[in-house]
Amino acid sequence: MTMLEILEKKKLGKPLSRAEIRFFAQAAAEHTVPDYQLAAMLMAIRLLGMTDEETVELTLAMRDSGDVADLSSIPGVKVDKHSTGGVGDTTTLVLAPLVAACGVPVAKMSGRGLGHTGGTLDKMESIPGMRVALTEEEFLRQVREIGVAVVGQTGRLAPADKVLYALRDVTSTVDSIPLIVSSILSKKLAAGSDAIVLDVKAGSGAIMRDLDSSLLLAENLVRVATLAGKPTIALISGMDQPLGTHVGNALEVREAIDILSGRAGGDLKEVSLTLGGYMLVLAGKVETHEEAVAMLERALGSGAGLKKLAQMIAAQGGDPRVCEDVSLLPQAPVQKQITCGQSGYVSRMDTAALGMAAQGMGAGRLRAEDGIDYSVGFVLQVRIGDRVEPDTPLCVLHARTEADADRAEAAIRRAITVGGEPCGRAKNFLGLVTKDMAVRL
Ligand code: URA
Ligand code: CA
Repeated sequence: MTMLEILEKKKLGKPLSRAEIRFFAQAAAEHTVPDYQLAAMLMAIRLLGMTDEETVELTLAMRDSGDVADLSSIPGVKVDKHSTGGVGDTTTLVLAPLVAACGVPVAKMSGRGLGHTGGTLDKMESIPGMRVALTEEEFLRQVREIGVAVVGQTGRLAPADKVLYALRDVTSTVDSIPLIVSSILSKKLAAGSDAIVLDVKAGSGAIMRDLDSSLLLAENLVRVATLAGKPTIALISGMDQPLGTHVGNALEVREAIDILSGRAGGDLKEVSLTLGGYMLVLAGKVETHEEAVAMLERALGSGAGLKKLAQMIAAQGGDPRVCEDVSLLPQAPVQKQITCGQSGYVSRMDTAALGMAAQGMGAGRLRAEDGIDYSVGFVLQVRIGDRVEPDTPLCVLHARTEADADRAEAAIRRAITVGGEPCGRAKNFLGLVTKDMAVRL
């Protein structure tokens, strides 16, 4: 078998066999065929699509291109949660301790931020002393002992995806449903959980901007994951504004702690409880989603979730006192309140631009090797639909310098539209996809 033969078959629209797809994924992981042949295949897939069978085979082949985590030493059903990426989206730090406090183990491998979206590992590293690079043995032992660990990849997960993703970026083939599905699911399957809750974002800060394409992606993700043997559900959630009020690493940890302490509510809390509720349902802990959310609310109200977060921080070398005293988190030297400066209704936010504003302050990276400043970012004080006056607080900037604060202020003002007409609030959930149904909410 040669890559040229496989390309000729795909070009003619014939479905590839399992062996041919394995050849392609293995060649990507091991660099045994040139990038131009891999790139040609990516464009053929982008233009001609793949059958479900081909997408399942590609997903499994990419999973098997590296290590597959073995979580079998952890008792119980392990449920993973994956978000397609957003701004101010700290659901993992809220729901992982709450789900664990309800007796369902959470063995989670998370990622770093890139572009306008934040990454859970970077947020966790803003906690003084916190380690996210655990060995596989440390990771498994921590989940067995305290029920929760959130870490970076413990092995070499889906190396074929690393190579293919980098090529997609430079060949205009990122926006292919079979390529997105196999990319996301190969890594989720390699992470070893028994079931998956997916949070597919829709809106101005999301990979799929409109609801139709987000639903299509969610349906494909659920169908392929189910065919691959992992019970999976997907929620479509709104990314027309940052999910939480806080954007920036230490600021987002602060909001998660505020929620787990009962001091804060809002959309981040609602989305975290909803996603966490589906994790409890898939784990078989309760029958209905209502019961699951009530159970999570009790874990929050009793302080059990906050206690679990403190245990996780301590187990990973971090200072658990941040859970009682958020002022121990890194603080930016410049803090500046800005007001709306006009009257009207908050009608639109360019979420990606808001993420870029935080990145420009130093909260995110332009390139994978860049360093980040954990303390910087901003706290938004308005939501879509709010009526505002010139002196209504818009946001508090947390910056390294006055000049950084001024630049961020200008970018944030450009990203938030205040119009004359009243407008409705943005919905948190737009759709739900299970193996049996897809509904708009
Ligand atoms: N996230 C991934 O991991 N892969 C994609 O292709 C898109 C989003
Ligand atoms: Ca392994």
